[in-house]
Amino acid sequence: MKQIAVIGSGTMGNGIAHTFAQAGFTVKLIDISEKSLEKGMATIAANLDRMVTKGSITEEDKHKTISNIITYTDIKDGVVGCDLVVEAATENITLKMNIFKQLSDICDHNVILASNTSSISITQIGAQVVHPERVIGMHFMNPVPIMKLVEIIRGYSTSDEVTKIIMDLSVKLGKTPTEVNDYPGFVANRILMP
Ligand SMILES: NC(=O)c1ccc[n+]([C@@H]2O[C@H](COP(=O)([O-])OP(=O)(O)OC[C@H]3O[C@@H](n4cnc5c(N)ncnc54)[C@H](O)[C@@H]3O)[C@@H](O)[C@H]2O)c1
Repeated sequence: MKQIAVIGSGTMGNGIAHTFAQAGFTVKLIDISEKSLEKGMATIAANLDRMVTKGSITEEDKHKTISNIITYTDIKDGVVGCDLVVEAATENITLKMNIFKQLSDICDHNVILASNTSSISITQIGAQVVHPERVIGMHFMNPVPIMKLVEIIRGYSTSDEVTKIIMDLSVKLGKTPTEVNDYPGFVANRILMP
C-alpha cells in the first residue's frame, strides 16, 4: 500500500488524510467542494502546528506530511493509482451508494474500498459494487490523528484477505483496530447513542 484516496475533506476526511500522510503514505484528498478542500488543508496545517508546539513532531515532519497530500475535485482523477479508497463523505445513504457505484466502475478490481460510515450497513454498501469482497468498513473516531480506536466492519461478502490487510494497515497507522459486526451503530455508536 502506497497511495490512498480519501473521499470527503470534512471533519473525518481531513483527519484520515492527515493520519495516512503523517505515516508516510501519498494521500489524494477528494471533495466535490473546492472550499471544503481548502478548509480541510487549513485544519490539517493547524493541527500539525499544534503537534509541533507540543513537541510531538518536528517542523520537518509537518512539511513532509503536508507535501504527501494532493487535492482533487474530480473523483476519477483522484483515485488513479490508489491501492485503497477511504470514503468519508456526508452521511447520506444515496450519496454513498452512488460513490461506491462510481468507484466500482473506475477502480481496478484489486483496489480496496473502505467506508468510514457511522451507521450505514457495509453489506448494503458492498452490494453496489461488482466485487463486494473488497468492500470494508474502516470507522475512525474523531479527532482521527489522536483517537486510537478504528472499528473494522466486514460486510457479508468481505474477504478474509481484505480484512487482514486493513487490520494490519491500521496497526501501521498506530491505531488499535477492532473487528466488529455489521449491526446498526456497529459497537461504539450503539453504546454511545443511547
Ligand atoms: N464527525 C464525526 O464525529 C464522525 C465520526 C466517525 C465517522 N463519521 C462519518 O464520517 C463521514 C463523514 O463525516 P464528517 O463528519 O466528516 O462530515 P462533514 O460534513 O464534515 O464532511 C463531509 C464532506 O463530504 C463532502 N462530500 C459530499 N459529497 C461528496 C462527494 N460526492 N464526493 C466527495 N466529497 C463529497 C462534503 O463536501 C464535505 O466536505 C460520515 O459517514 C460520518 O457518519 C463521522
